[in-house]
Amino acid sequence: MRRKIIAANWKMNLNYNDAIYLSRQIFNNLNSIDTPNIIISPPYIYLSELVELFSKIDNIKLAAQNCSKSKKGAFTGEISSQMLASINVDYVILGHSERRLGFNETNIDIKNKIDLCLENKLKVIFCCGESLELREKGLHFKLIETQIKESLLHLSKNNLQNIIIAYEPIWAIGTGMTATKDQAQEMHKFIRDIIKSEYGQDTSEQVSIIYGGSCKPSNSRELFLQKDIDGGLIGGASLNADDFFDIIKSIKCI
Ligand code: PGA
Repeated sequence: MRRKIIAANWKMNLNYNDAIYLSRQIFNNLNSIDTPNIIISPPYIYLSELVELFSKIDNIKLAAQNCSKSKKGAFTGEISSQMLASINVDYVILGHSERRLGFNETNIDIKNKIDLCLENKLKVIFCCGESLELREKGLHFKLIETQIKESLLHLSKNNLQNIIIAYEPIWAIGTGMTATKDQAQEMHKFIRDIIKSEYGQDTSEQVSIIYGGSCKPSNSRELFLQKDIDGGLIGGASLNADDFFDIIKSIKCI
């Protein structure tokens, strides 16, 4: 059975007081109810405190939004996967388009980061997604295939169990322009088929593939109803407690 997952990506938003306030709202609302798997990705500096807070709720895990591609050493300002593991963070988001584009991260950088995370027993939310330009040229499937091949397909079957794949078309991120349920389902099935041809049917049925890109209460249910969409990676709408809970409820009732 594939796991249903709702992940919040706060990006570089919320100062300390606002982050703690939102976290307490999430804690108080989700403490007593049966939730799907929730993953919260705050900025690094809040991780330690939030790991502690959410350790009381089984289904809520913490993710970092990035980690260094180096193990340790003279890399001023960087945070290593080993450091994240040492404060009991569970996941790291890797390959987000904002890092690929804004920080020139390549598929090989992402592969190396994935390996370091897995060595340190961290799980990974691996993001892939195409630009509008590539989609309009009909090159979106090729791009996604290359991103997955170059960063993921070296993994063993066992290690693949520690990966959640997030399909996030760049043109839908933060734009209010969501992929239609059919566009998203088509790409999720394409991704699952890549996994199937490399690792077999059983493994492909176990990998969770979540959708990200302007996912909000008004469209989450129809997206989550699609056969190959196992949840969402939520940016803007995860910063508002009510919207975030509505998105969680929309997956709970499927
Ligand atoms: P968005 O961001 O929901 O604000 O579009 C999603 C993401 O970048 O993960």
